[in-house]
Amino acid sequence: MIVTIDGVAASGKSSVSGGVAQALGIPYVSSGLLYRAATLLGLEGGLDLQDAPRLLDHLRAHPVRLEPLAAGNRVWLGEQEITDRLHSTRIDRGVSVVAAHPAVRAWVDEQLRALPEPFVAEGRDMGTNVFPHAPHKFYLTASARIRAERRSQERPENIPEIEAALLRRDELDRGQIAPAPDARVLDTGPMTLDQVIQTILADIRG
Ligand code: C5P
Repeated sequence: MIVTIDGVAASGKSSVSGGVAQALGIPYVSSGLLYRAATLLGLEGGLDLQDAPRLLDHLRAHPVRLEPLAAGNRVWLGEQEITDRLHSTRIDRGVSVVAAHPAVRAWVDEQLRALPEPFVAEGRDMGTNVFPHAPHKFYLTASARIRAERRSQERPENIPEIEAALLRRDELDRGQIAPAPDARVLDTGPMTLDQVIQTILADIRG
């Protein structure tokens, strides 16, 4: 069984997916972490993020592994854990360029499709492209201001700066942020984290 939870940047996908996965006793898979890891490798390798063929060669030479745990995903570069380095403003800025390369998307999708079920998959295109046959699909939205307020706990910039960066990222990600036609869309703005989790669980168990 696969549950997909897609949505715009900072819509609460990771926290919601973690909560749903824990309640169901299964892992969750954060696809965004693989795009972030590809971006980190590109930046640290001094590569031009627009240069997809070189980036792909670099990714093949430096194997990245996603460890999908219910309590939080971890990302490994060989034996070294890189999870804590994936949520910086620098990566936020570069990741949409990296995620726009079809070859990078194929690199991510291949890793996701190799994971053993069951799990909750979180990202932008889990319900549309990667797991179109998943029986339970959800899509989270919230206004840019609310998302920026939530994200301000995790980033050094002020709320208007974060809001502008989120809108920029939504625009760059627009190719993969449409909800699946059979996804239930939830506006998380007026909801608490627990209300979102309970709504999704009730729908799954429905
Ligand atoms: O979910 P998160 O904000 O960590 O995702 C980081 C970036 O990775 C997104 O802005 C998007 O560019 C890309 N992404 C994607 N498809 C996914 C998940 C993430 O293109 N399924």
